[in-house]
Amino acid sequence: MNSFMSWVGGKKALREEVVQRFPLYYERYIEVFGGGGWVLFHKPPGRDFEVYNDFNSLLANLYRCVRDRHEELIDSLRYVLNSREDFELIKQALARDNVNLPEGQREDALGRSPASDVQKASWFYQIIRYSYASALTSYGSQPHDMRANFPLIEQAHRRLKDVVVENKDFEKLIRQYDRPVSLFYCDPPYHATEGYYQNIGEDGFTEKDHIRLRDALLSIEGKFLLSYNDDAFVRELYDAPGIQIEAVTRLNNIKQRYDPNCQFAEVFIANYDMTERQRAATQLNLFDFGQEI
Ligand SMILES: C[S@@+](CC[C@H](N)C(=O)[O-])C[C@H]1O[C@@H](n2cnc3c(N)ncnc32)[C@H](O)[C@@H]1O
Repeated sequence: MNSFMSWVGGKKALREEVVQRFPLYYERYIEVFGGGGWVLFHKPPGRDFEVYNDFNSLLANLYRCVRDRHEELIDSLRYVLNSREDFELIKQALARDNVNLPEGQREDALGRSPASDVQKASWFYQIIRYSYASALTSYGSQPHDMRANFPLIEQAHRRLKDVVVENKDFEKLIRQYDRPVSLFYCDPPYHATEGYYQNIGEDGFTEKDHIRLRDALLSIEGKFLLSYNDDAFVRELYDAPGIQIEAVTRLNNIKQRYDPNCQFAEVFIANYDMTERQRAATQLNLFDFGQEI
């Protein structure tokens, strides 16, 4: 199924490639850099325990509202206007609100009434949908039918029913959920494009964070699968014993308009054999073929 939102760096085009590289067996699935959740929504729900995480608290709040209060969220989106004035007002309101305190404790210094979780989720969703390229910064000036999203929100509500939503920095999350039966899928901000993401801490995502992520992943008991841009810094970071690096390319959506064959180079990195699932599928097909003869 599709996600209910677009997101910068979203893995819509790569999601099948990602899922094909999952190990055959795991009991806990943890999506560390959740964003638009394109892989989580594509992954068939199984009996595994699933976690969605993103350090952006507005995003985590939106996911929780889709899971637990989707009817209220849809109601609050029913009569919104796709207008530059509303877009700017909503951006200001979100920036003003203190997003890190629990509901009921968010009054500002002037005692103004805090926005509810659903109100903030609705504002944030409007900013995602009405901004240029979903980059959250400038008004997109594009027609957009908000009501067309309601079936997507309802579908996502059902899919997220048993998913735990976390709002942590990756290092704490990985430490908390690491077990020998855990699978961490990590899709961090790509190296040298980190500036696209907001609301992820004072300094944003820096080179130190890429190194911190590598150190955290290389010391886990469970399995990890990482997607990254194919870049010398990334390859050097993960040049370690027992680590597989596989290069993949896909059509570059942004440059396609000028050069239809322009490819974007990415890598998958894992601490296990990424071909396990595809080999098992091939063996099963051969077995079926044998049965028919
Ligand atoms: C490339 S995007 C993930 C896209 C996602 N896979 C999808 O398909 O939409 C990276 C995400 O990492 C989140 N992020 C940035 N710094 C983080 C941190 N320190 N810990 C956890 N998440 C973080 C950003 O908010 C952003 O949503």
